[in-house]
Amino acid sequence: MGKKKCQNAARCVLLGLCFIAMPLCTWLVFRSRATYLPYYLPCPDRLLFYPRPKALQQRRTDVLTLTPWLAPVVWEGTFDSDLLDSIYKPLNLTIGVTAFAVGKYTQFVGHFLESAEKHFMIGYRVNYYIFTDDPPEIPFVQLQPGRSLSLIPIRKYQHWQEISMRRMEAINLHISETIHQEVNYLFCLDIDMVFHNSWGPETLGEMVAAIHPGYYKASSREMFPYERRKASAAYVSSAEGDFYYGGAVFGGLVKNVYEFTRACHMTILADKANGIMAAWQEESHLNRHFLSRKPSKLLSPEYLWDDRKPKPSELRVIRFSTVSKKYKELRD
Ligand SMILES: *[C@@H]1O[C@H](CO)[C@@H](O)[C@H](O)[C@H]1NC(C)=O
Repeated sequence: MGKKKCQNAARCVLLGLCFIAMPLCTWLVFRSRATYLPYYLPCPDRLLFYPRPKALQQRRTDVLTLTPWLAPVVWEGTFDSDLLDSIYKPLNLTIGVTAFAVGKYTQFVGHFLESAEKHFMIGYRVNYYIFTDDPPEIPFVQLQPGRSLSLIPIRKYQHWQEISMRRMEAINLHISETIHQEVNYLFCLDIDMVFHNSWGPETLGEMVAAIHPGYYKASSREMFPYERRKASAAYVSSAEGDFYYGGAVFGGLVKNVYEFTRACHMTILADKANGIMAAWQEESHLNRHFLSRKPSKLLSPEYLWDDRKPKPSELRVIRFSTVSKKYKELRD
């Protein structure tokens, strides 16, 4: 009799455990599919439910979301990250990032990479290409699976203007040597910057430029600091110009970034031959190029902010921002 009671109790306990375990297992399985699925396995086709776009409704009305040549301007609130992931993740893309750490700028590498590992293209394969004159100074940063870092040694130039001028050339050369086989999209970013919020597939496009945080409120074209001397190949007249783009962020399909950096390098060389240096070096040339070859996508100043500026209300998030620094100290 006692033995039977005991067996019944054991059955009850087992049954009880099953009742608890089944939903727990189900939950664990679903949870793991959502978060622990290896980065390289796209989720199996499943219906994604998201709010219907409405033909008579703008999602943001306080900012420009489309240029006159129909390139989208990416702002928080204009896109659906889950929807974009469901489109881009199955493509198994690799995203490249170039950044230059020359001289004292090696001090920014750690913070840049650590913040990128938290916010930049999470769930995608990412290759970082750090161009440096001092490889031993680059700190070790633990990268997530599917992400890698290559150090590309470059020579040290005497002046920071020269470093800046050589960037387009170095990127262009390295794309043709290796990067073109390794990535689908490439972003060229400044190293003295930090990621604060998500930077995802909404930024991918054929050719991508970022609106400079210092000039997006400018009331007239004359206020843009384009190169204004006709002798320069970066010359822009006061009647021309769409936006003032930042040199700290540009990107796109790797073949387009190749063509773009080649074209910029050519006009930089033309200026050099004429003994002229554009007002903002490569940024001036970049702006001149984007005038005749319009970018296919624009990033709002969320993607290129300056920490010294207070956050205005139209900026719902700051994603990538400068590290406040003493310019003079670094450049001398
Ligand atoms: C994704 O791309 C990587 C590198 O290009 C490749 O090694 C891998 O096999 C691809 N995965 C799938 C599922 O296609």
